[in-house]
Amino acid sequence: AEALRVGIAGLGTVGASVARVLRDKAAELTRQCGRDIVVSAVSARDPKRDRGVDLGAAKWFDDATKMAQTADIDVFVELIGGDEGTARSSVKAALEAGRHVVTANKALLAKHGVQLAEIAERKGVLLNYEAAVAGGIPVIKTMREAMAGNSITRVFGILNGTCNYILTRMEAEGLSFDACLKDAQRLGYAEADPTFDIEGHDTAHKLSILTSLAFGTRIAANDIYMEGISNISQADIRAAGDLGYRIKLLGVAQRTESGIEQRVHPTMVPTASVIAQVHGVTNAVAIETDILGELLLSGPGAGGNATASAVVGDIADIAKSRPGFQHGPVFGRPTKELKPYKKAQ
Ligand code: HSE
Repeated sequence: AEALRVGIAGLGTVGASVARVLRDKAAELTRQCGRDIVVSAVSARDPKRDRGVDLGAAKWFDDATKMAQTADIDVFVELIGGDEGTARSSVKAALEAGRHVVTANKALLAKHGVQLAEIAERKGVLLNYEAAVAGGIPVIKTMREAMAGNSITRVFGILNGTCNYILTRMEAEGLSFDACLKDAQRLGYAEADPTFDIEGHDTAHKLSILTSLAFGTRIAANDIYMEGISNISQADIRAAGDLGYRIKLLGVAQRTESGIEQRVHPTMVPTASVIAQVHGVTNAVAIETDILGELLLSGPGAGGNATASAVVGDIADIAKSRPGFQHGPVFGRPTKELKPYKKAQ
């Protein structure tokens, strides 16, 4: 089979990791996918910066949207970030040009996911976004593919690695909020603007995607009640501990009599519970269904390699797919009793 040609837009922590994994694991990927995967184009702001990765013969583009439209690529990998600007215009351009897209951009999907999904479905290309939710945990594949036939009643979890890292170290080491945040930034976990992490926006973006998948509703990040962790003090953590609880920032979506409830806020969880054992940058997603019962997935939630693992998985998924193949609607499975996410024909 012909090689799958990949264009990577954005060579920050995640983009550089993806390029490195595709190179270091080329033989393994070829064996698994039955064809080669090659990085044939890249784009980033600064062409001179040393990213510690050999980009081989990849063609350099200054402009990601131009790369999306004109490069000889089958897959456009968007790792730029941000919910407008280049990220949005390049993804849109790539889909319109009939190229598959892989993105880790939860903010973009939370805001424009439905519109982008409609273009992908109309063009018959894949829009894969495993890395957008819970880093390396394969929660999207689990919900879209492995849980077919299940009716989900509730999905909740620890969806922001930065916040969980901060809360864990504040509790275990008595460190200040600010010192922990600085370390999370140094380790490449935090968003470009860390307010997105600590005020709960990032968790809300991810939750809105999970809600859509779980309940077949249109993505509605603005409907989410949101409270972050910036007001959590050592005294709060100690008081919770004295009562037998630990504080975690949770995102929760559940079916209630009055509709789908979505919320993000610091939550006291019993110290002995499984979710309370999720430490550091680790994320966890719990899914409750009628057939399967309760499922808990946990694993690395942020950082270059964890996110790259999910991105590469999405690229491999495309390498193995037949032309025109769709997993079904890009987001939720439409249901009758709920306002469905409308699929384009
Ligand atoms: N800033 C995010 C986090 C990165 O800390 O979880 C992964 O989406």
